[in-house]
Amino acid sequence: MRLLALALSLICLPAAAQEKSGAEVYNAVCQECHGTGKLNAPLFGNQKQWGKLVREGLDDLVPASLKGIRKMPPKGGNASLSDLEVARGVVHMANAGGGKFAEPTPEDAARWRAKADRKKK
Ligand code: HEC
Repeated sequence: MRLLALALSLICLPAAAQEKSGAEVYNAVCQECHGTGKLNAPLFGNQKQWGKLVREGLDDLVPASLKGIRKMPPKGGNASLSDLEVARGVVHMANAGGGKFAEPTPEDAARWRAKADRKKK
């Protein structure tokens, strides 16, 4: 039994430390509003609502998501998400809305964080 527990913790530890994927972030946090249209959040997969946002591009969308925009709280209200996780969530949603964005890198996330910090809400 003890061996089994050890084996399990060895398997699970790295997984727990790993950052969430865009889909995981979306399901855990963003879906609450973007899956339902709560507070008039642009709906997941709605190409019409996301078309304009996709054209604005990640340089607008990610800083807005980090900082919050109007009724959207900073990081969707979950401060425990890393900047990179939020960026992945944005890419996941934007691509479901017709975008073709690549997976963001830690360098992208740092650039978007700097832009968010310069931004007024
Ligand atoms: C509490 C509800 C809520 C949650 C949770 C939420 N959002 Fe939003 N989001 C909104 C609302 C409302 C808007 C529309 C804001 C506006 O334009 O007035 C929005 C807009 C956005 C936009 C468009 C921003 C722009 O520039 O117009 C992006 C991108 C976005 N959310 C990403 C996310 C991501 C990523 C998550 C999860 C980490 C998330 N949201 C979680 C409510 C939410």
